[in-house]
Amino acid sequence: MTKKLLEVNGLKQYFPVKDGFLKTNYVKAVDGVTFHIDKGETLGLVGESGCGKTTVGRTLLRLYEPTEGQIIYDGVDITNVNMLPYRKKMQIVFQDPYASLNPRMTVGDIVGEPIDIHNLAKNAKIRKEKIISLLETVGLNSEHANRYPHEFSGGQRQRIGIARALAVDPEFIVCDEPISALDVSIQAQVINMLEDLQKEMGLTYLFIAHDLSIVKHISNRVGVMYLGKIVELAGSDDMYRNPLHPYTQSLLSAIPIPDVRLCREQERIILQGDVPSPLNPPSGCSFRTRCPYAKEICAKEIPLFKEYGNNHIAACHRIGEI
Ligand SMILES: Nc1ncnc2c1ncn2[C@@H]1O[C@H](COP(=O)(O)OP(=O)(O)OP(=O)(O)O)[C@@H](O)[C@H]1O
Ligand code: SF4
Ligand SMILES: [Mg+2]
Repeated sequence: MTKKLLEVNGLKQYFPVKDGFLKTNYVKAVDGVTFHIDKGETLGLVGESGCGKTTVGRTLLRLYEPTEGQIIYDGVDITNVNMLPYRKKMQIVFQDPYASLNPRMTVGDIVGEPIDIHNLAKNAKIRKEKIISLLETVGLNSEHANRYPHEFSGGQRQRIGIARALAVDPEFIVCDEPISALDVSIQAQVINMLEDLQKEMGLTYLFIAHDLSIVKHISNRVGVMYLGKIVELAGSDDMYRNPLHPYTQSLLSAIPIPDVRLCREQERIILQGDVPSPLNPPSGCSFRTRCPYAKEICAKEIPLFKEYGNNHIAACHRIGEI
């Protein structure tokens, strides 16, 4: 039987920013997000730059304190608890493999740091063995331990970041766009490695990406974000075959589909205008300023999530009519 590992309810993250008149305004980076991830599952989270994906990942790990909402991990409400024991269970692989590794530390010490913080090695010998074993797990070797991050390629740096995340033997990892900074030729290697690690270690992933085509392969379910909100959540295949929300439809229409039959039916939907500012999101449906189907009700009422069978949920007033 599947069991929920993580539940996020009504999560909000508002960042205070000073405007020109010394008044405080708020960037509504995450504005009421609800989802769960089952044990051993991968949930993909996609959306354009700035829609709040990283902020969701960091807030649910309590690297940022949530403005509002609840985070439940393995049945325990961790919204306000001391996170130290959970840092061992919940890890993150960062978006930028160049900025996320301390340039003054050796690779051995980068991977060894979480081992030290959580007292996971009884002595220096065990610590060294653990570090070498972690490097080998991610396709590096013992010779790499004494080198510095600048001596490595982007793909190798991301492997070091993954080894660091694995050092505490975690259950859950937020993979924040782990391949978007890498050459296309390296991307598949890193994805395959993450999939193998998941199988071997029984890991659960929140896998963040810009692009639906990347998460389709690796995710069991996918959530689509727009301006701080999840607008649609469904099984991967279901999301691709039958996207319900106009925003998801536009994202998918931009991806070439190899299936000839589907290609003929596919019409490219080009969105007008830019994403509005999260400082001042539109009333009602936040997508309404760019939605080709927007009507009066869309400006007045926030669309609520409804289920359309098969645990496929979407928030739009006009599903069924469009
Ligand atoms: N520490 C912060 N202070 C103020 N605003 C922030 C902070 N972090 C993020 N933001 C803002 O919150 C919004 C969401 O940012 P976030 O980094 O979560 O987006 P993202 O979906 O991960 O984007 P990308 O795909 O480019 O990584 C953006 O408008 C961003 O400018
Ligand atoms: S609620 Fe209205 S504006 Fe929002 S996606 Fe649906 S049709 Fe478009
Ligand atoms: Mg991000």
